[in-house]
This record gives sequence, C-alpha cells and structure tokens, in this order.
Amino acid sequence: MSQMFLTLVLFIQACLPAETRNNEPITRQTTDPKKVLIVYLSRTNNTKAIAEIIQKNVGGRLVALELKTPYPENYKAIVDQVVEENATGFLPPLKTKIDSIEKYDVIFLGFPTWGMQLPPPVKSFLKQYDLSGKKIVPFNTNAGYGTGSSFDTVKEMCPNSTVLDGYSTKGGVERDGIFFVIQGEKEKQAELEVKNWLKKLNLVK
Ligand SMILES: Cc1cc2nc3c(=O)[nH]c(=O)nc-3n(C[C@H](O)[C@H](O)[C@H](O)COP(=O)(O)O)c2cc1C
Repeated sequence: MSQMFLTLVLFIQACLPAETRNNEPITRQTTDPKKVLIVYLSRTNNTKAIAEIIQKNVGGRLVALELKTPYPENYKAIVDQVVEENATGFLPPLKTKIDSIEKYDVIFLGFPTWGMQLPPPVKSFLKQYDLSGKKIVPFNTNAGYGTGSSFDTVKEMCPNSTVLDGYSTKGGVERDGIFFVIQGEKEKQAELEVKNWLKKLNLVK
C-alpha cells in the first residue's frame, strides 16, 4: 500500500512543471564552485552585471581585471588609445594578480567589445596565465555591433583549452552617453538568457 502511495507521489511530482521561485526557474550547480573563476573587464559595469548573474547561479570567485595604468575617463581618449594598442599589439600590464590559477577548472571570461575586438587587457590576461586543460567560457556586452573578432581571439589564444559557446548581450552605448543599462527589465531578461545559456552548456541543471 505504502509502495503504491510512494509511486503515486513520484508520478505526480514528475508531472509538475520544473521547480520555480517567484516564477523563475531554479538552477543548480553542476561544478564545484571552488573550481570556478569569473574574470571580467568592465568600464561602465554592464559586463560586471552579467558576471554577477553568473556568480549567483554558478558560484565561484569573481575578479575584476584592473590595469597598472588605468585608461582615460574620456571616451574619445580611450577609443584612440585602444586603436593604437590594437595596431601595435601592446598588451597593457595588469594590476590584478590571480593566485593559484591552477586550482580552477572553469574560467568564465567577460569583456566588452572594444573596436570590434577583444580588449587589450583581456589579451594581457590570456597571455599571462596558462589556461591549458581548462574550460573557458566567454561572455560579452557591446553597444549593439556584436562581438566582432573577440570570441575567435579567445579561441586562438587558448589553443589547449576547451572554449565553450559564449554569451553576448547589448550593453551601454558610451558614445551616445548611455552607460549602465543591465538593470530593471533588462536585468531580468539577461538573467533568464544567462540561465538558459548555462543550462545548455551543462554548467547548471
Ligand atoms: C574603447 C571602447 C570601444 C568600444 N568599441 C565598441 C565596438 O567596437 N562595438 C560595440 O558594439 N561597442 C563598442 N563599445 C561599447 C561597449 O562595448 C559597450 O558599451 C559595453 O556594454 C561596455 O561594457 P562595460 O559597461 O562592461 O564596460 C566600445 C566602448 C569603448 C569604451
């Protein structure tokens, strides 16, 4: 009798929709959070907001990339400097130091699109650390022109890593004075998209 009751309960559970909290799907980690590192570059906090959504769902250590010599505040000045750095291949030295990178199995790598490329400080990071054998998971925000060559450059610079499919969304348009946008409805939308992306990659259930 109790066996039948249990079977009935299990059957009813299986018929119910996936578990939700406030109507949002609940995600469960599939990777030990101690082995997850989330590294990001962000000037106006859009990429940072995506990094925080990832951390909320996957756990792990969140690290912002900072430069020894910060970029200029002025938009035109930074654009000109990045054009110059891309043309000469200059890799700006990082102030951020990541200790024991070898203990991480999964490295999320977040960056904005700059000049339709991977920003020079992210190239500095990839050049500086040996990420062989690790899973690299890129994510990006941009002003609406897409990821350019950035995801391909991550693959090229990490030939001995497994680079998973990246996530990208529209962030700010600093040129037009639009800075931080990943808030309110846009944040909710991004959170749903990020959860679906993480599920597809089997990084959460
Ligand atoms: C130097 C610089 C270059 C940029 N180049 C591009 C670009 O080529 N294409 C694009 O869509 N957005 C470009 N953007 C806009 C950023 O990618 C966008 O605002 C992004 O959301 C910023 O992310 P953050 O808030 O994390 O810094 C550029 C921004 C800066 C500061």
